Amino acid sequence: MAKKSTVNTKIKHIGVLTSGGDSPGMNCAIRSIVRSGIYHNLKVSGIHRGYTGLLEGEITPMEVSSVGNILQRGGTILKTSRCADFMKKNVREEAVHILRRKGIDALIVIGGDGSFNGAHLMSKENDYPVIGIPGTIDNDISGTSYTIGFNTAVETGIEAVDRIRDTAASHERTFLVEVMGRNSGTLALHVGVCTGAENILFPQEKINYEQVAADIKRGIARGKNSSIIIVAEGKAEGRSYEIAKNLKTKFKLDSRVCILGHTQRGGAPSAIDRFFASKMGDLAIHAIINKNFNTVTVYVDGKFSLSPIDKCLKKKDLVEQEYLDLARVLSI
Ligand code: F6P
Repeated sequence: MAKKSTVNTKIKHIGVLTSGGDSPGMNCAIRSIVRSGIYHNLKVSGIHRGYTGLLEGEITPMEVSSVGNILQRGGTILKTSRCADFMKKNVREEAVHILRRKGIDALIVIGGDGSFNGAHLMSKENDYPVIGIPGTIDNDISGTSYTIGFNTAVETGIEAVDRIRDTAASHERTFLVEVMGRNSGTLALHVGVCTGAENILFPQEKINYEQVAADIKRGIARGKNSSIIIVAEGKAEGRSYEIAKNLKTKFKLDSRVCILGHTQRGGAPSAIDRFFASKMGDLAIHAIINKNFNTVTVYVDGKFSLSPIDKCLKKKDLVEQEYLDLARVLSI
């Protein structure tokens, strides 16, 4: 459990923002924060367009009705942004001035590790209370086994690959299906296991073309009528085209490419994402009431709790070898 803060002011008014890539379920977390906050006699303000909007003072009061009918909607009603300027100390200081001028005593940030890093520095440098809620389809934040949006993104990936299997089987083809994950192979891994992919390629891994070609050829030899290779997008979206070209020229293997891209960031949140986001929003309010500041709501070993924010700033170990092995064994 995280240490209590030394901030003594009674928190009466909180702000909430979403930052970084959006993820399905962020709206459920916003709804939970607003409703639970008001229930516990806090005033809640919504900050629009992440840290960018905070710096521009785009802050509006939120009421119980502001979050009506949003539980089932993907995206974030508060909008989001990636704010490179927030890397600067003076910019973070200015953000705290704006929050204090608006009478906002604490800030809840829903986002990924980059957003938490900004929140952590802002808090440390200016003695300003923050709470983080993990929201990213990449599920790559250390300190928690769950991030809001991951489950829905996996479901979206599965649905897409199931459809691709139909046409792949009809044409007896190999498909490279590229899923999101600039630095993270977690989404690729889970979609791959759930769709029986013949191979899964991680962003940080040097591609072993001999292995990929051998996996495809082994399947063909035993009468499989389609092969699916899941590719994590890595540094450059569209790298699957290069991989397909290499498979063709080096191994005479013909394939098709399908890039799922931002389809995985949208759509109605799954039951799991709705449930977890609802719980984490309420937990963030309790963290504020109990002055467990500078923490992140986490899910570890089947339980919700709070973790100090500096334990949630790094990317977690992304290659879960155990599941990669599982995918390999089950797709022989
Ligand atoms: O938010 C995480 C993520 O969706 C990654 O999986 C992806 O690589 C990246 O964001 C894409 O970012 P953008 O929408 O800014 O292009």
